[in-house]
Amino acid sequence: MNALIIGGGAREYAIGRALRADKNCEKLYFAPGNGASEKLGANIAIADLEELADFAVKNDIKLTIVGGEEFLTKGAVDVFRAKNLAIFGPAKAAARLEGSKAFMKNFLADNRIPTARYIETDDPNEAARFIATLNAPIVVKADGLCAGKGVIIAQSAEEAVKAARDMLSGTSFAEAGKRVVIEEFLDGFELSVFAISDGRDFIVLPACQDHKRLLTGDQGPNTGGMGAYAPAPLATDELLEKIKARIIRPTIDAARIDGMPFTGVLFCGIMVVDNEPFTLEFNVRFGDPECEALMALLDSSAIELFYNAAIGRLSEVKPRFSDKKAVGVVIAAKNYPYGSSEPATITIADDAENENAHILFAAVSKNAEGKLTASGGRALVAMGLGDDVKSARRNAYDLVGKIRFDGMQYRTDIAYQALRS
Ligand SMILES: Nc1ncnc2c1ncn2[C@@H]1O[C@H](COP(=O)(O)OP(=O)(O)O)[C@@H](O)[C@H]1O
Ligand SMILES: [Mg+2]
Repeated sequence: MNALIIGGGAREYAIGRALRADKNCEKLYFAPGNGASEKLGANIAIADLEELADFAVKNDIKLTIVGGEEFLTKGAVDVFRAKNLAIFGPAKAAARLEGSKAFMKNFLADNRIPTARYIETDDPNEAARFIATLNAPIVVKADGLCAGKGVIIAQSAEEAVKAARDMLSGTSFAEAGKRVVIEEFLDGFELSVFAISDGRDFIVLPACQDHKRLLTGDQGPNTGGMGAYAPAPLATDELLEKIKARIIRPTIDAARIDGMPFTGVLFCGIMVVDNEPFTLEFNVRFGDPECEALMALLDSSAIELFYNAAIGRLSEVKPRFSDKKAVGVVIAAKNYPYGSSEPATITIADDAENENAHILFAAVSKNAEGKLTASGGRALVAMGLGDDVKSARRNAYDLVGKIRFDGMQYRTDIAYQALRS
């Protein structure tokens, strides 16, 4: 089977690596891919979705997988389905569960799925009136996609009113802030749960924990993610059953009934308060780097899993995950996440990769001499596997030690949560 992956980060590289390992994978394409993805398949430089779908028809692509939310909210899945192509990901209507927090909150409220009390509005006065009914801290969220920066936890009502006004006037997040969600602060612990659905059935994937802050010890600014490990011992079975019954099942069912069946990855951001789960948000795709850890653990056919989910036959597959643990350490370029960085040549020791250590490439390019360079942003992920978290982590950091480029930065404490005694 020929396959196409839309995107160019380490998440898409990891999916590509899993497909490549599948005996049923013939030709593999990335659009656009990155400077290293040609190790796995061919990069194609087509950004227009209609053209990309035509490419898929001409090249007999039987499965397309969309990595990120930008393409999903633009309607990549609708364009491909209109040409009868199997594609893994939600259509534009369902992708609004991530693309609009106001839409998502109304969906939850309409379907009595637990979430924080809220209003959504484009009126600063209405926002201020609701804020006056809440105790600080107060959560103010821009409606649209803000690359993880659109949420303010205000420590006072005044600060919340100001945050809402700045968003609504277009000062802080332009169009994405022209509508806001104001909600009560939930005091608990956070958990992410990934489910793959074909619109009717769903499979919950092993729990992962990511590391959003730039620096060791959870210091520094938020980033796209600096590392992840799986499986994470986060949720008890009892809690997971509640999450499935009260959040995932009703979401999948209501989406189908509303005429926007959810196919793809439903990534549920959850706050657990007194052992009760509340939905903070949905993402409609894999997290990056969580996906890299999950793909490292997937022990059964990746093609079968994604293809069956794409065509509504998820019930026919039983994915198997390894008993091992996976720890992924992100290595970012010098100025990440503040700004761009000069390209820096990457050297990798010949013996760097083995059965328990592999690299997933992201923001890398090939320079004029054909050398791989870190081109800014998150360059790659060093993934370690092991029988326990300790050895997986050792393998990941041994691999980091075999990778060099000027200005490389990474955290030294990924998976510390699992090793705390
Ligand atoms: N109602 C809430 N109560 C407490 N913390 C919240 C609440 N909503 C969001 N947060 C915090 O803000 C973070 C970002 O919010 P989220 O809704 O996940 O938006 P995004 O990921 O798009 O920035 C969450 O991971 C959580 O830590
Ligand atoms: Mg979030």
